[in-house]
Amino acid sequence: MQFYSRKWIKPEDLNPNGSLFGGKLLSWIDEEAAIFAMCQLGKEKHLVTKFMSEINFVSSAKQGDIIEMGVEVVSLGRSSITMRAEVRNKLNKATIISIDTMVFVSLGADGKPKPHGVTQMADSDL
Ligand SMILES: CC(C)(COP(=O)(O)OP(=O)(O)OC[C@H]1O[C@@H](n2cnc3c(N)ncnc32)[C@H](O)[C@@H]1OP(=O)(O)O)[C@@H](O)C(=O)NCCC(=O)NCCS
Repeated sequence: MQFYSRKWIKPEDLNPNGSLFGGKLLSWIDEEAAIFAMCQLGKEKHLVTKFMSEINFVSSAKQGDIIEMGVEVVSLGRSSITMRAEVRNKLNKATIISIDTMVFVSLGADGKPKPHGVTQMADSDL
């Protein structure tokens, strides 16, 4: 798995207990996975999050921590792409969350699933 994006945890990212707010983290990883999926599917720009499996909040992060987000393809379907994701502490590599399955679906102009036509994973550097 490649870890692409990094975030520096700031005061506005915290929950009332002073640690990283889980909803914020989910928003970041959803966007990260969407961008990764678009890169994998080439010209497909209309992708939606369809499914996320159980999310395991393994450990927390605090203000000043640097975290990194990783996504990798598990499989390619007809209109879907299935990925898994992990967020970890950049310095000590401790896992913060792991998500086994994230499914994004390519949609046509009618809002219905549209075949993306991709059968092979793209270069991991995308
Ligand atoms: C995405 C959407 C159009 C799919 O509609 P649908 O009736 O489930 O479509 P289908 O049953 O044809 O499934 C489409 C693909 O999703 C996959 N899929 C559907 N439900 C799934 C699930 N629960 N888990 C994993 N994959 C699933 C199917 O296997 C299919 O993949 P394939 O084409 O690669 O074989 C519809 O559910 C939708 O609009 N959802 C809202 C999405 C959204 O707005 N997300 C943003 C967050 S709110």
